[in-house]
Amino acid sequence: MAEATVSDLGPEEAPGEVARLSALLTAANAAYHGQDAPIMSDAEFDRLRRRLSEIEARYPELQRADSASATVGAPPAKGFAKVAHRQRMLSLANAFSGDDVAEFDRGIRRFLGLGPEDPLAMTAEPKIDGLSLSIRYEAGHLVLAATRGDGRTGENVTENVRTVADIPQDLPGAPDILEVRGEIYMTHAEFRALNQRQAHAGQKTFANPRNAAAGSLRQLDVSITAARPLRFFAYAWGETSGPLGATQSETLARFRDMGLPTNPLTRRCETVADMLAHHATLAKDRATLGYDIDGVVYKVDDLSLQARLGLRSTTPRWAIAHKFPAEVAETTLERIEIQVGRTGALSPVARLTPVTVGGVVVSNATLHNADYIAGRDSEGAPIRDGRDIREGDWVTVYRAGDVIPKIQDVDLSRRPADARPFVFPTHCPVCGSEVVRPEGEAVARCTGELICAAQAVERLKHFVSRAAFDIEGFGAKQVEAFHALGWIAEPADIFTLAARDGAGQKTLENAAALQPLETGVAGVFEERRRALAEMMPGSGLGDTDGVEAYLSEIRSRGATPLATLHGWGKRSAENLFAAIETRRRISLARLIFALGIRHVGESSAGLLARSYGTFAAFRAAMEAARAHDGPEWAALNDIDGVGAVMAGAVVDFFHAPAARAALDRLVAHLEIEDAEAPASESPISGKTVVFTGTLETMTRAEAKAQAEGLGAKVSGSVSAKTDILVAGPGAGSKRTKAEELGIEVLSEDEWRARIG
Ligand code: IVH
Repeated sequence: MAEATVSDLGPEEAPGEVARLSALLTAANAAYHGQDAPIMSDAEFDRLRRRLSEIEARYPELQRADSASATVGAPPAKGFAKVAHRQRMLSLANAFSGDDVAEFDRGIRRFLGLGPEDPLAMTAEPKIDGLSLSIRYEAGHLVLAATRGDGRTGENVTENVRTVADIPQDLPGAPDILEVRGEIYMTHAEFRALNQRQAHAGQKTFANPRNAAAGSLRQLDVSITAARPLRFFAYAWGETSGPLGATQSETLARFRDMGLPTNPLTRRCETVADMLAHHATLAKDRATLGYDIDGVVYKVDDLSLQARLGLRSTTPRWAIAHKFPAEVAETTLERIEIQVGRTGALSPVARLTPVTVGGVVVSNATLHNADYIAGRDSEGAPIRDGRDIREGDWVTVYRAGDVIPKIQDVDLSRRPADARPFVFPTHCPVCGSEVVRPEGEAVARCTGELICAAQAVERLKHFVSRAAFDIEGFGAKQVEAFHALGWIAEPADIFTLAARDGAGQKTLENAAALQPLETGVAGVFEERRRALAEMMPGSGLGDTDGVEAYLSEIRSRGATPLATLHGWGKRSAENLFAAIETRRRISLARLIFALGIRHVGESSAGLLARSYGTFAAFRAAMEAARAHDGPEWAALNDIDGVGAVMAGAVVDFFHAPAARAALDRLVAHLEIEDAEAPASESPISGKTVVFTGTLETMTRAEAKAQAEGLGAKVSGSVSAKTDILVAGPGAGSKRTKAEELGIEVLSEDEWRARIG
């Protein structure tokens, strides 16, 4: 189906399109970050996200608080104490071209009501490729240092940071409270020297300076950090008891005066042209700086404007990262393998002859789907000018940021004479079930659902993953092994593992999903075998064939206690069972996420949990919405952030007999904590507000962002659900309608008084 261009999209079609795009992006995000299987290319993802932003720019009232927003970074690792950041550590939106930067500038002007000629200075700072850190000074003394973690909670690395020479222990002249934020990094020279020392000592070497910096900082043994040459640049701040300056550049100058290292290549720019010129300079000088930068960060210089611009969910409106083009390398594509994800999606993966791309050795790349391999996009238009990808081809691979490498192009001049077009499988390589690809969808799926061992294993991995049940010591490797041994086939089995230990492992009700490791096409299971070898370290198991033999031996024995597996003992088995025990009590949000329902990511699961409160209420509502109509269906669709696609997937999940039965078996072992309704600290939180007429002290977008920041929902039209209408001069029919409906009407001044 052809998409209407955004400028042709009328007010009637726009809400539906926003819902469609949001659902697609949320699903793609979940598929990508849940490591299940990417369901679209990066380019397609960017295109859809761009389209969504364009529509939102045109119809600001359609923008949702959780608009396809990515969660920032990864949750904190175990081992360090956790620190709740008093002010969130933010991430940055990305720009990839001069046009994107010009649009960033225009968007800010629109938001602030500035004309194209009004001054709007920005700083342009190198984007340091390290890891971000928050350092708290009280009365001028360093008291706490924390990594970003997921932006809200990081790891306490205070003692490690005290060993970093670049970071002062005392900041004379600092305000009483000052949280300095910046980047920990390692120079190229120090990285090379460190790797040499590591190799010499028979220790692990690092793939790139950023990994080396992260690995060096996050050492439980502080003396190791002390021996590593870490550096720091300050570029931002969190909580402060007093302002440091009126602008970003003044603040950076204050930092420097206090003894904090700041980057000398920061410039203040008056125009977009200045910004792009500095970007070009840094791109050219990049290789000679001696440390990695991956772009330029532009920030509105005036801090009072920054405050007005405020934040989206995890990124400030007043800053953007203009990335450098990705690094590329050439190599041969040895094989194309098909991985089967939790929802049955078949993802082709390229196995490459290992090659270094931007300091990282790359041996796999995603191939997305059959169309992508064949050289066309989801609408049939050619990509790579229609060149297909074959086993044996020479390909150019690139890495953009932190993501899985991609194939940029194929070199036809070096294609082997016997290379044949890739034939996408018609049957699942794992369970042999038929593969279907619904009309208009890019993703092919295995229909084996319950009999497919790959899907079962992936569902289990998702179930125990960090944002789901997060069972300590129970990760992907344990899932692989216990499944291969026939001990677990579905989530409920995890909670009976201890009781069945050493006996009765074969009594699982749904043993159909237990398939021997060796089914499927060659190569697919290589990684799996490696995981098993790691989970059961021990003599004879180092090589993967040894694992295979060992597994069949145990399976034939039938009753083997966990403690007797290679590499395991009484202690480790008891620890694992104890860890499982602690997770019988689980929050509703985690449970919903863990179920692995399509289109339901972590934040949607939280949304559903908060909306329904209890598992019983949630389940009853989903069961009542069976026919996709009626009041429960409407209520589900009315939740801000739930679109029709997600709603359909959730309801259907509760009506698939097998999924229901598995859910019943699971919840019998659980104590599910009710979800708390969102706290309402602000006088307008939870209220639906409509703005109409002319606003005099702020733009519409600013008013909306501010109201949403205080927990209100902003709508474009007045209905019985409206709580407050803010009416400026020139308000017309909306005001009349609000008065008819008895809705509270406030002037702009009264509104400002209300929100303080
Ligand atoms: S400002 C207020 N400035 O890039 C937003 N970040 O992709 C906070 N980074 O998490 C970030 N150099 O780790 C900012 N000059 C710079 C930066 C920078 C590197 C990192 C930082 C951030 C990430 C976002």
